[in-house]
Amino acid sequence: MPEIRVDDICIQGGSGENLLDVLLAAGQKVPWSCRAGHCQTCLVQALEGQPPEQAVAGLNPQQRETGWLLACQCPIEQDMRLKLHDPARDGLGARIVDLHFPTETVLILRIRPDRPVRFQPGQHAVIWLDSELGRPYSIASQPGESELTFHLKIHRAGAFSNRIVSLAPGDRLYLGQPGGHFHYDPDWQDKPLLLLARGTGLAPLQAIARHALAQGHQAPIQLYHWHDEQGCYLKKELRELASGHPDLTLRLRPETELAADLTQLRLASRSTLALVCGPPVFVEQLRKPLFMAGLPGRQIIDEAFLSRQG
Ligand SMILES: Cc1cc2nc3c(=O)[nH]c(=O)nc-3n(C[C@H](O)[C@H](O)[C@H](O)COP(=O)(O)OP(=O)(O)OC[C@H]3O[C@@H](n4cnc5c(N)ncnc54)[C@H](O)[C@@H]3O)c2cc1C
Ligand code: FES
Repeated sequence: MPEIRVDDICIQGGSGENLLDVLLAAGQKVPWSCRAGHCQTCLVQALEGQPPEQAVAGLNPQQRETGWLLACQCPIEQDMRLKLHDPARDGLGARIVDLHFPTETVLILRIRPDRPVRFQPGQHAVIWLDSELGRPYSIASQPGESELTFHLKIHRAGAFSNRIVSLAPGDRLYLGQPGGHFHYDPDWQDKPLLLLARGTGLAPLQAIARHALAQGHQAPIQLYHWHDEQGCYLKKELRELASGHPDLTLRLRPETELAADLTQLRLASRSTLALVCGPPVFVEQLRKPLFMAGLPGRQIIDEAFLSRQG
């Protein structure tokens, strides 16, 4: 039976068992959020033992070289010696610059990292409030900005949501490494973009729209935002952006109209790329209408805001 060592503690794991489950069952405080290999909240570092390929998929070369792996994606195959992730040691410190609520349930958080961060607009990073409480959020900023902005949906029953609202400018937190597939690709220059967001799914998609425009994108961009009864929390900024870019069309729509709007979706051309972001049910709901509108699966790129409950 393979042996897992964490500091001086030795844990027996059945061959093929999931590493995160085994660590949690043994009382190790390993944070997790999506359990889908997507958010990087469950990082642990292998000091000995080769992580299986599926446990490092999606990590950057530097993370791989230094032995990091995603515990939720790791079947136990051999003995391993592990070090648990500590955001204060392994993450990047940052100071809160501003928190404000454009609506009752959306918090816009601005932080200043202790040093510059490399990222692509639309990628995500784990925000850590302490060594155990971290959640992934999409970066709403542009490269080169000294502050990073995030749009957080505040969930009434959410552990992170309840803690972040009690923080104030000047308070410190930690940031994981930005990553993920959800960002603009310069090869898309001449392809129409259909950007479809619900709720705070707008965070990465408005960042991608801004980035595309800054890169001189050559084809039309349509940005849909389905919002709750309090309205689009970024309406003013988006309208300003669109007023300077005739190729950007905004569709700011109440979420009560979502089903009807989906029956009306039309593609600007067969080369259109659709980028979809929001709660998992929304991302799932969009697949069929996009397919019916003539978009093959390879032209749909999505980011589901998975949480601990799916
Ligand atoms: C790659 C990635 C990027 C993300 N980017 C963002 C972002 O930019 N902005 C943002 O607001 N969120 C984003 N999320 C989702 C966010 O990380 C989760 O919603 C997170 O779990 C919230 O933490 P919490 O502690 O407040 O709630 P949790 O304690 O994790 O969950 C408590 C309860 O809140 C509800 N809940 C939590 N999250 C969701 C959800 N996404 N959909 C529906 N119900 C939910 C559920 O009822 C759940 O039981 C992202 C997720 C991923 C995987
Ligand atoms: S990547 Fe493992 S919990 Fe999200």
